[in-house]
Amino acid sequence: MTAQRDDATWTDFLAGSLRPRGTGLSLQGQLLRHLRTGILDGRLPAGSRLPGSRQFAATMGVSRNTVTAVYELLGAEGYIEADRSGTRVADLRRPAPPSAAAHVARSPSLSARAMRIPRRAAVAGDGFALRPGVPALDRFPVAAWKRCLDEAIARRGHEALGHGDPCGELELRAAVLRHLAMARGVRATPDQVVITKGAQEALALCVRLLADVGDTAWIENPGYRGAQDAMAAGGVDVVACAVDDAGIVIADDDWALRPPKLVYTTPSHQYPLGSVLSASRRLALLRNAAAHGAWIVEDDYDSEFRRSGESIGAMQGLVPDAPVLYVGSFSKTMFPALRMGFLIVPSSLLPAMRPVLGELLRGGRRFEQLALADFIRDGRFGRHVAAMRRLYRERRDALRDALGKHLRLPHTITGGDSGMHLALHLPAQVPDRRVAFLAREHGMAPEALSAFVSSATPTCNGLVLGYGNTEASRMDDLVATLARLIDRSLTGDRR
Ligand SMILES: Cc1ncc(COP(=O)(O)O)c(C=O)c1O
Repeated sequence: MTAQRDDATWTDFLAGSLRPRGTGLSLQGQLLRHLRTGILDGRLPAGSRLPGSRQFAATMGVSRNTVTAVYELLGAEGYIEADRSGTRVADLRRPAPPSAAAHVARSPSLSARAMRIPRRAAVAGDGFALRPGVPALDRFPVAAWKRCLDEAIARRGHEALGHGDPCGELELRAAVLRHLAMARGVRATPDQVVITKGAQEALALCVRLLADVGDTAWIENPGYRGAQDAMAAGGVDVVACAVDDAGIVIADDDWALRPPKLVYTTPSHQYPLGSVLSASRRLALLRNAAAHGAWIVEDDYDSEFRRSGESIGAMQGLVPDAPVLYVGSFSKTMFPALRMGFLIVPSSLLPAMRPVLGELLRGGRRFEQLALADFIRDGRFGRHVAAMRRLYRERRDALRDALGKHLRLPHTITGGDSGMHLALHLPAQVPDRRVAFLAREHGMAPEALSAFVSSATPTCNGLVLGYGNTEASRMDDLVATLARLIDRSLTGDRR
């Protein structure tokens, strides 16, 4: 390009490019952005000469310093280059825009393993009635929680703004452990406790740290989808073990045929069926795991809400040095948005795990952790859990009564002795996923029991009904509607 043509190009290019001072971006910022855009979109082609800073400043009516600063920045970013004859637009060799055909061929796609993640119906909001897993959010003592947060900030202030211990605040780990020792019979020391982003992160850590791609893991069938997802993400081969009214079913032969690296189980309240793993199966599982070098991942997600019979202790504390990684969650005892849970690591694994955890975890959420430690220490956590236990008993009873009153089909109910959900088993001809789908239109979000089954042939059919966030007074109306939907699903009536 000749110098004259360059000048003409610049005059055209710069015309009207600046807005008066005080209307937003500074003059320097406006010029910088205008030049950068012009270079990127090709209006200022590679090689074209920039006017000298004096001439540029005069043309634009800005100070020379402004122009010099803009040139310096563009030069530092590699948009322009100075040589002996002046300053020119650099050759950026922008990739040509893809042709339409190439774009179709290369339309964005996820990784193969992401494509294997099952697509499920969009998750219903927390306000949907009968949605499993949602506690009574309106009963959480928000004011007391706020006081704990304020207190933590006032007490620790700047000191707690750094990352902190990757395994969590020692105060919280000690408070969690004191509570678990009393409530669940867990045996450990605070250095074995790792604070995680919910039970889900704890499960993912167990898989990542203890199993290699291609190793075998046993899970419950039907079972918790979060555990299935964690196993799938870790590339382990999952063997789905049946569940009956005494929990996960494992024969001695299974250990001989294909011993696993990991066994995932929810022994105190099987998810979603609600059975309790019997003492003899617990002991056999502990014995066999120790003998075969396997680790049991005990997910004790809602045991705090056991309301009939004696509280069932954790497997973790049943025998000394149990080969158990104990997983817990505050999503139900506190509230889901807290996104906090914990993992208790066996002491024998600690020396190997501690440095790796230090690499994998980033700490953070320190004020929430300190506030939670306070909430537990002062007894507010215990009082809240006790109040919710009473509330959930009332809600469960109302749900059971309503099911008995409105359901005409033969059915059985399991699992209401703990937690916040029960499993309603329905005859095989009821299309449970369709009923769950139709229920959404009526503000309810029960889950289909068959959706928790990990083998091709569903072993159970029905609905998982959460009662944590649904008032007792609403149960009758809701279940009447649900019963109508179940009847209609059998006749194909879409209303
Ligand atoms: C079996 C089971 N484990 C764990 C959790 C809690 O997970 P998180 O702490 O990641 O919210 C749930 C929640 O619904 C669950 O059903």
